[in-house]
Amino acid sequence: MIIEPRMRGFICLTAHPDGAAQSVKNQIAYVKSKGKINGGKKVLVIGASTGFGLASRIVSAFGSDAATIGVFFEKPPMEGKTASPGWYNSAAFENEANAAGLYAKSINGDAFSNEVKQQTIDMIKADLGQVDLVIYSLASPVRTNPNTGVTHRSTLKPIGSTFTNKTVDFHTGKVSEVSIEPANEEDIANTVAVMGGEDWAMWIEAMKSAGVLAPGAMTVAYSYIGPAVTEAVYRKGTIGRAKDHLEATASDITKNLESIGGKAYVSVNKALVTQASSAIPVIPLYISLLYKTMKSAGTHEGTIEQIQRLYADRLYNGSEVPTDEKGRIRIDDWELDDKIQSEVARLWEVATTENLPEIGDLEGYRKDFYHLFGFEIPGVDYQADANEMVAVKSIA
Ligand code: NAI
Ligand code: NA
Repeated sequence: MIIEPRMRGFICLTAHPDGAAQSVKNQIAYVKSKGKINGGKKVLVIGASTGFGLASRIVSAFGSDAATIGVFFEKPPMEGKTASPGWYNSAAFENEANAAGLYAKSINGDAFSNEVKQQTIDMIKADLGQVDLVIYSLASPVRTNPNTGVTHRSTLKPIGSTFTNKTVDFHTGKVSEVSIEPANEEDIANTVAVMGGEDWAMWIEAMKSAGVLAPGAMTVAYSYIGPAVTEAVYRKGTIGRAKDHLEATASDITKNLESIGGKAYVSVNKALVTQASSAIPVIPLYISLLYKTMKSAGTHEGTIEQIQRLYADRLYNGSEVPTDEKGRIRIDDWELDDKIQSEVARLWEVATTENLPEIGDLEGYRKDFYHLFGFEIPGVDYQADANEMVAVKSIA
């Protein structure tokens, strides 16, 4: 069928299999162009189908020839109805990995559940024995704790007082003022339960007990800090509390892994257009000003460039992993560069609906958003009949 983008608010209801496949191919080509990385050879990626997790799977496979197992939660296609983008990305990834002679299997289900953890452990035992790298890259608005049965919903709210600032609707380009009411204690606890480190620690504990972590295994989860303008709604808001918890969990996990010589890291990454970040007020305006500024400075990166640099220059640089004073890996260094930030802060003050197309990269934002769903990828014929019923080969 002919597949077109169908928007509803901040989400796109359709995805294009051929666009997703081309986008995966482009990411693979980038990783290959940067040369080999002496990284993990058996890798589990939790949250492997989109964004930073997909990029991590691609860098492991095509940078280090790794066997990969990917866990994600995506909608398969139905006749006349497209799959979610991560499904098509994963189908394409497996095809490319298999063609390159690389092991690649996927598990589609709720990573927060005990069942999916067990299924993953069984797959590692049967096929790989052990893994030496576990990437934890989940982004979800909801988590059911398997031990309590309680379902937690995360919120994106400031803490303490109402936050008012500028934002942009990136579909219309309209800059307006938005006010967000502060969170209550329950909102904070729920957001920490969903996006904090509890589930990461549960994964690693389950894997360690099952003996599927190799000696010296590493695990990495992703965090964000960002600038002063987004602080109230991000790092000092409910999601920031969850990130504080995630970062603290890294040291707990490292202690737990002492007996096998393993280590847990949090990598602080750059703000990028993903399904998750588009839903956070204020962030799209910040990203459009940031993109413009970083692109003209020549330091702009997407998810694949970020993760390639994480592996090559940080995790597997042949010597110690460089971290900040809190033990965090920083690949948001170019974003938080003083020159970049003072320019973005200056633009923030003057940004209006009228001047944003000039001073911000609204077009780049919009393009990146469409790319997430496999649309507007150069070289893809969107008038051609596309097969929506694409399978992820390893999933029966
Ligand atoms: P994303 O939305 O692109 O990817 C989320 C992944 O999690 C997908 O593979 C999805 O299938 C999977 N997933 C969600 N719920 C699941 C469940 N219940 N069971 C199994 N899989 C599930 O998100 P993105 O942006 O790549 O985020 C990944 C991490 O990176 C998050 O911790 C996020 O906070 C962090 N990060 C994101 C930044 C951004 O600007 N997008 C910046 C810095 C960090
Ligand atoms: Na991800």
